[in-house]
Amino acid sequence: MLLILRKTYEDLSQEAARLVGDRLRRKPNLVLGLATGSTPLGLYTALIDKCRNEGLDFSKVTTFNLDEYIGLPRSHQQSYHYFMRESLFKHINLDSRHTHVPDGMARDIEAQCEWYEQRIVDVGGIDLQILGIGANGHLAFNEPGSSLGSRTRIKTLSERTVRDNARFFTSMEQVPRYAITMGIGTIMEARELLILASGESKAEAVRAAVEGPITAACPASICQMHRRAYFIIDEAARSKLTQVPVEEVTGREYAAPGYQSLRLGEPSEIFGERRAHERT
Ligand code: GLP
Repeated sequence: MLLILRKTYEDLSQEAARLVGDRLRRKPNLVLGLATGSTPLGLYTALIDKCRNEGLDFSKVTTFNLDEYIGLPRSHQQSYHYFMRESLFKHINLDSRHTHVPDGMARDIEAQCEWYEQRIVDVGGIDLQILGIGANGHLAFNEPGSSLGSRTRIKTLSERTVRDNARFFTSMEQVPRYAITMGIGTIMEARELLILASGESKAEAVRAAVEGPITAACPASICQMHRRAYFIIDEAARSKLTQVPVEEVTGREYAAPGYQSLRLGEPSEIFGERRAHERT
């Protein structure tokens, strides 16, 4: 596990975009796992910029989104289909036939989940999965208590998540209570994980995920078991970590006891295949 500290949300987004750009240049037919929520928006904006101004080519990329609400049509402004279209897909040269977002309106949700899992296998697995983290430590919609080996399935959202999501809807009644989500087992099979967290509201979840025990009570803590999991977090999200030196974080990176040294240089060096970056 690699922990990368950045001062601001903007810095974090740029760093994440560098990683994605690097992976895409190495493998033009990258299979990219995508997340929704406000956290990856800065990354998506940076990727759009790279596509337009640096020629970053998404034409051969295949994408899989983590989750979707059940019961919201694709055209609903709060559906993740809509979110992805507006925030990323329509701005880059991605072939829409290569994008996948679970269908929350599917008649047979179980069959939809099985199909999703199979599609991921059929394209050779996810190379790089982008993830946010819920304030309660959830990954995608794998709420606390989710099986750490779970596969794509229907989940009931926790009260906390429903409350957190309420800001996007005009009334509590409209907030969906169910979602289709990739399972934790599915996520863990991605070759690399990129977990982004920004702001004080995520500080406790980040602490539990990075320093706490591996437990279903904090699904994100399973990332400790992944050989190539990168947390990129900003100063506010790092504020509750106890093992990171309390020095000023000004775009420099710090090695915490228990973490591998993070001497970050050029992008290729940061995200190269060097095993030294892995937590042992
Ligand atoms: C939703 C999504 C998660 C996301 C989380 C955090 O619950 N299903 O994938 O990580 O929101 O959202 P935000 O980044 O807005 O805090």
